Amino acid sequence: MASSLILSLRATASHFLVPSSSPSSFSLAKPQSSSSPSFSISLNSIKMMQQDNEITEEATGKAEANAGPTKKVFVAGATGSTGKRIVDQLLAKGFSVKAGVRDVDRARAAFPQNNPALQIVKADVTEGSGKLAEAIGMDSEAVICATGFRPGWDLFAPWKVDNFGTVNLVEACRKLGVNKFILISSILVNGAAMGQLLNPAYIFLNVFGLTLVAKLQAEQHIRRSGINYTIVRPGGLRNEPPKGNIIMEPEDTLYEGSISRDQVAEVAVEALNHPESSYKVVEIVAREDAPKRSFEELFGSIKQR
Ligand SMILES: NC(=O)c1ccc[n+]([C@@H]2O[C@H](COP(=O)([O-])OP(=O)(O)OC[C@H]3O[C@@H](n4cnc5c(N)ncnc54)[C@H](OP(=O)(O)O)[C@@H]3O)[C@@H](O)[C@H]2O)c1
Repeated sequence: MASSLILSLRATASHFLVPSSSPSSFSLAKPQSSSSPSFSISLNSIKMMQQDNEITEEATGKAEANAGPTKKVFVAGATGSTGKRIVDQLLAKGFSVKAGVRDVDRARAAFPQNNPALQIVKADVTEGSGKLAEAIGMDSEAVICATGFRPGWDLFAPWKVDNFGTVNLVEACRKLGVNKFILISSILVNGAAMGQLLNPAYIFLNVFGLTLVAKLQAEQHIRRSGINYTIVRPGGLRNEPPKGNIIMEPEDTLYEGSISRDQVAEVAVEALNHPESSYKVVEIVAREDAPKRSFEELFGSIKQR
């Protein structure tokens, strides 16, 4: 139901991201049988090379710097309800995590102490790409963005956080040569083009600072950036454990439904492990009558337009 979204929502590349033998280790490489980590520049980066030499040189530098078994993921919005679940699942699956947060002290209390795989760093996405690049660092191989504006008096907050903030993160990735970006967006971001202008959820969310329009703008920036992206558009988010299986559809398909934040986190983390997720926008909800499908099947079923 559209109402469930309202209630809970305030807010052929020839090269792929290929999992290597370890579940937590991934590399930018051609799909190949070898499990040894290797790095190359994606087809999209090559396109960028023609357009912008500076960006490509940075990407090359990163590939060389990371030519080892590194596997660190930067999570923006790590103290959020979905962000925290993403951090927990990454750690559980053997990744190292750099948790980007606005308040480091509060975050220390929220996360397990003394986990050497977890590093907490200050990262306010409105403070520009330079500071974000410092926070992400040369050691992060992928960025997951789970930010969303916090409701308050600032009517421009959705635009600052959900559009410019995400754009800042993408630009920071370009500076560093980080070549996997996963964004938690929302179904209905392109509601106007879907004929959902009168959908109450579309209206409600845009009344508050054009939230969905802001997210769509950020998505378009990611898609133009040349970075290997997976844009995850969930339905209304629930804190309860998963009820039912994940339904995954292409962009601009779903306009109602909900999903557990645990499942959204799982999709974001699995996007790192599945080359089928590359350069795709996926819309997700959960339904009790949906068949259980593997992530390979789910991501593989999406044909990007
Ligand atoms: N709620 C829904 O039903 C629904 C449905 C579909 C999609 N979505 C989208 O899914 C995403 C996750 O939603 P959620 O409800 O799990 O998020 P949430 O709990 O509201 O968390 C938002 C996160 O964004 C962070 N944040 C806000 N402003 C920031 C800034 N300037 N710099 C850095 N971080 C900032 C917050 O940091 P602090 O902890 O410091 O405040 C928090 O960690 C959002 O983009 C949301 O719009 C939500």
